[in-house]
Amino acid sequence: MVYEIVKYGDPVLETPAETVTEFDTPELHAFIADMFESMYAAKGVGLAAPQIGVGRRIAVIDCSVGEDESQKIVLINPEIVKTEGSQREEEGCLSIPGFREQVTRARRVTARAQDATGKPFEITGEELLARALLHETDHLNGRLYISRISALKRDLIRRKVRKLVKAGEWA
Ligand code: NI
Repeated sequence: MVYEIVKYGDPVLETPAETVTEFDTPELHAFIADMFESMYAAKGVGLAAPQIGVGRRIAVIDCSVGEDESQKIVLINPEIVKTEGSQREEEGCLSIPGFREQVTRARRVTARAQDATGKPFEITGEELLARALLHETDHLNGRLYISRISALKRDLIRRKVRKLVKAGEWA
């Protein structure tokens, strides 16, 4: 099932998500499958549960956008445990469509998370994967990438979004 992506302005995107405590249930597996389906439908490389209106600490990532099964990553209750270096690249978010900004992030990142069965694991990524690990973990902490750009640029995006809302083009 493809969920609609929640857009910037909805409070669920800026509320810390709740820790997942039940694992390996049919409901959880189905939900994760739906998250991948929703992410691919939106052509994203990452999706966090709050972006489909569900405040639970679950995110999916696939830097190959569906081209390579081995790049599918499920992160439940992720925490960033190590960051190194820095990279500055353009970043966007499915919940803020039509906007992209340069964001400085760590270049190499290690996250600790649980899989769908509750088993803990660590994953280390560089470049785009590092950025995705940080971006999706931010989502689960109620943080959007625009909180990591200058106030000036953020206000510009806010003003443009407000216009789109008024025009009925942000739903
Ligand atoms: Ni995002």
